[in-house]
Amino acid sequence: MITHKKLPNGFEYIEVKNSSAEAKIALQGAHLFHYKRVGEEPILWLSEVSDFEAGKAIRGGVPICWPWFGFHQDRSLPQHGFARTAMWDCVSCSEADEKSSSVILRLTHSQGSLKMWPYLFELDLHLTISDKLTMELKTTNLDRNSFKITQALHTYFSLSHISDAVIKGLDKKPYLDALTWKKEVQEGDITFNQEVDRVYQEVDGEITLSDKNRTLHVRNENSSSVVVWNPWIEKTSRMSAMKEDAYEHMLCIESANAFDDARVVKPQKSHTLKAEIF
Ligand code: BG6
Repeated sequence: MITHKKLPNGFEYIEVKNSSAEAKIALQGAHLFHYKRVGEEPILWLSEVSDFEAGKAIRGGVPICWPWFGFHQDRSLPQHGFARTAMWDCVSCSEADEKSSSVILRLTHSQGSLKMWPYLFELDLHLTISDKLTMELKTTNLDRNSFKITQALHTYFSLSHISDAVIKGLDKKPYLDALTWKKEVQEGDITFNQEVDRVYQEVDGEITLSDKNRTLHVRNENSSSVVVWNPWIEKTSRMSAMKEDAYEHMLCIESANAFDDARVVKPQKSHTLKAEIF
């Protein structure tokens, strides 16, 4: 079943329920903020104190960072781009069978977007909700000029505890440490006992995240960069919509085209960043 819902403050979202999973997707930002398989705990982390308000990004779920990832050179422009706070249109909602539902949301250029980023575009997010979560973010260039994008499906995973978390699949991969801006190389699995903010490059295989309760798999296509982030204690205290112990139960593994993995999209051409989580 796919239902359009509204919070008392007018915030709109789509609720999906089928025999294998359930999900909630806000029209603002095409922001998936809940995904849970039947009989399991939620896979996505969502801050208990997150805002569901016009113009503010939801803290948790899968924010869409687009058309730039991270800070813009012009610091008056929003970190992680404008797509995550823009209103998207629902293009279609459908049910392939009782186990799988599909939602397509679209953002196109507007007077507001052209002031921040001077290109004509169409951006589609195609979500498939089943016992696997599939996210396909398709950028189409409708402009006369080529443009360059950096982007991420900024997935917040829910954890038993950060001290239980182990990420495999990035051994020997080079990364940019966003805390020191130095280039490093990963040695072995990733575990956490301090703030981590890294852009892994040359990523070509599946990544797994294990905690005390389960192992999740992340498989990306048309992406060779992955961001791994946990803000730890001090940064959490400075962040919006995060309780002080929030860092203990979340971890981001972001399917990206960031830094050296920026993509140029030529006129009338498309680029699709795809992530599967299962
Ligand atoms: C991550 C960045 O992708 O997003 C972090 O690597 C950043 O540096 C985090 O703090 C959250 O960003 P925001 O804008 O949602 O607070």
